[in-house]
Amino acid sequence: MRSSDVDRRRFLRMLSFSTLGLTAPRLAGAAGRLTGDRQPFTLGVAAGDPAPDGFVIWTRLAPDPLNGGGMPPVPARVRWELFADETLRQVVKRGTAIASPTLAHAVHVEVTGLAPDRWYWYRFSTDDAVSAVGRGRTLPHADAAVSRLRFAFASCQHYEQGYFTALRHLAREDVAVIFHLGDYIYESPARDGRTRRHLGPELFTLDDYRNRYAQYKCDPDLQAAHAACPWVVTWDDHEVSDNYAGPTLRLGRSDEGFLRRRAAAYQAYYEHMPLRPGWLTHGPVAQLFRGFRCGALASFFVLDTRQYRTVQPCGDNTTWPCDGMLDPGATMLGPAQAAWLFDGVRRSSSRWNILPQQVMVAKVNRRQNGRDRFTMDHWAGYETERQRLLACFAARPDANAIVLTGDLHSSWVNDLRATADGPTVATEFVGTSLTSGGDGQDLPKPIEAVLADNPFVRFYNEQRGYVVCDVSPRQLRADYRVVETVSRPDAPCLTRAGFIVEDGRPGAQRL
Ligand SMILES: [Fe+2]
Repeated sequence: MRSSDVDRRRFLRMLSFSTLGLTAPRLAGAAGRLTGDRQPFTLGVAAGDPAPDGFVIWTRLAPDPLNGGGMPPVPARVRWELFADETLRQVVKRGTAIASPTLAHAVHVEVTGLAPDRWYWYRFSTDDAVSAVGRGRTLPHADAAVSRLRFAFASCQHYEQGYFTALRHLAREDVAVIFHLGDYIYESPARDGRTRRHLGPELFTLDDYRNRYAQYKCDPDLQAAHAACPWVVTWDDHEVSDNYAGPTLRLGRSDEGFLRRRAAAYQAYYEHMPLRPGWLTHGPVAQLFRGFRCGALASFFVLDTRQYRTVQPCGDNTTWPCDGMLDPGATMLGPAQAAWLFDGVRRSSSRWNILPQQVMVAKVNRRQNGRDRFTMDHWAGYETERQRLLACFAARPDANAIVLTGDLHSSWVNDLRATADGPTVATEFVGTSLTSGGDGQDLPKPIEAVLADNPFVRFYNEQRGYVVCDVSPRQLRADYRVVETVSRPDAPCLTRAGFIVEDGRPGAQRL
């Protein structure tokens, strides 16, 4: 279904609800006029979820972004235009979308019918205001012989803990798509003594989450990175609550209101991300795992390791092993996602099979006083399913499996093995945080013992940044870009390390 149809249907539905109440809805045709001289495009624009024939474009009308948005509680009409050229002379498509107050006046338009593998430019407008211009790119045709793909991945952007300088540099990278692996916002209350300050208390209600997204999205560096190319987003825990596990708070702590809170958080996430219109199913369930194919070169399996997982065993920290780690009923993915992933990798004909996801797959032993210790919130706490994942990779050595990980606020390059000294079956690139944790060090002293205990770890670094990948049929290259500091603005960015994985040879080689 075309997005204009979806929007029209949604609007007709709103109309019919109102006519039942015998009052026709007032349509705010001119957001700017209704809100005085404050312009409504304060949160920027975004493109996302690219396909060979199109992508989603997003904006939200919010003339008073930090206080609920500032729009009158009626639907508003927003125009959109898509251009074939940067100078905005050749209009390819245009249309109208309805920004509904039930979705915080967010606009999600699924643009289709475009040519594969090329750039487009887009913008939104109301009667009185025009948005910034964003750039989107379609994927190559599913069967195309693609010789090269450049993409980036990043995660963990705690607003209080640093400036989004890395995102400003990321906006200037020559990449076709950016994968964001979660912790887009943090739910914690404002704290003193940090680089910047959250507005308001810990997030619980829909209004709380909306205002927090708005605060983050007012950042010009974040807006620049969104305007530069399509993003494919997935979430980790802080979009809802620290280390939550499926339907419960961390450690399975019961909280009757948690699913209501999760539903509010998921809705606010949708309202601020370039996801497909109609993606939100209302209530606390929303399928975020999904696939993308870049010609015959690469398939991406974007995972959600939060929504369906069972509770972490023996606490959610780094601790001594316990029986719960081996629980065959424990799951990180849930049955539907696991079946989709394992089946997808098994059948894939793509040269590279890449899994953008959240928590570390490598089982890093953080030994203390001679005793083994593992992090229970990571795949290590879900050993049975971790073994199934590694067996899936081992069964398809020609699939060139690559795992992309966020969450840890540090960079790691890991050879993935079923046992610590077994053969390498896949490669894991863990990207550091964009800001979370504040300024980090290159190689802090205590980590040296960890590296000695875990020889499958090829690289470690604790500075802030992101990773750029350059993929060809022959090899995948990953460059770790880091910024000098995030506690002061305008830091330069440099490449700290580069790795390649060769076709048919799992494991990273340092350049
Ligand atoms: Fe994080």
